[in-house]
Amino acid sequence: MKKILITRRLIQSSEEYASNIFNVKLNKEDRLLTKDELISKSSDCDGILSSLTEKFDSDVILKLSNKVKIISNFAVGFGNIDLDEAKKKNIVVTNTPDVLTDATAEIAILVLLCAARRAKEGMEWTKKNWKWSADFLMGKQLTGSRLGILGMGRIGRAVADRARSFGMRIHYYNRSRLDKNLEKDAIYHKSLESLLSVSDFFSINCPATKETRHIINNKTIKHFPDGAIISNSARGDMIDDDAMVEALKNGKIFSLGLDVYNGEPNIHPEYLTLPNVFVLPHLGSATTKTRTAMGDLAIKNIEEFFKTGKCKNKVN
Ligand code: GLV
Repeated sequence: MKKILITRRLIQSSEEYASNIFNVKLNKEDRLLTKDELISKSSDCDGILSSLTEKFDSDVILKLSNKVKIISNFAVGFGNIDLDEAKKKNIVVTNTPDVLTDATAEIAILVLLCAARRAKEGMEWTKKNWKWSADFLMGKQLTGSRLGILGMGRIGRAVADRARSFGMRIHYYNRSRLDKNLEKDAIYHKSLESLLSVSDFFSINCPATKETRHIINNKTIKHFPDGAIISNSARGDMIDDDAMVEALKNGKIFSLGLDVYNGEPNIHPEYLTLPNVFVLPHLGSATTKTRTAMGDLAIKNIEEFFKTGKCKNKVN
């Protein structure tokens, strides 16, 4: 039986599933393991089932035991793992696509709506001093607005589907133009600047890569229409936080909805104090149905790899 380190707690049924087919080492207290612990606890293991909270940088990967053959990430994103270093060490890295698309698209719309309709301020007023007047806490309406989507993969397209039902017009920028059947009525832009210039609302749904790091910065922010609303449900890396905070303060950006941010859990302090920033703690896939499906898929990825030497969800 292969031995697997599962770095964080999974939904109980997934842990039971894993225990039936592998010899598992669980992290019963669900404590964030240090780099040294990741290395030592996996030293007698054939594989690791990791979460986005663990950073497998080159330093950690180089020190992993040669016995470790697979890192199965419990996430669709894999920016927490140095893929090249893993490949050099013959470690296969896998992810959990598809099963979280709907849940994540729901959160993308949630943070967009909360930012647009000033939910954070509304909640604070409700707790402190309920009031109502005809021009109190004026927000912006999604209906009839243009939504720019950066990254039209599975999640970007699921966000587009939901936004259409709000009566939004969809624009997008992607590495390449989509086929007509996937694009539906969305308008493709050949450059990011062109997309930003029509984005009354903007949703970040691209992967974190060297190319997309800080793609929203003080130069690109200038291209947005004044008073644009931004949501990020992908990874914090895409936003230069200092540039964003400045734009939120001077009104260039009306409001920001975040499910993810740079350096989680160390959020930029002004995101917590600015009234026009609505934040959640990376809840994109946090429904029982989705987290169970992700856990089961992360386990199946390991099983498939040890049975066949391959895995369809391999990312490196
Ligand atoms: C969540 O952010 C994921 O990548 O699965």
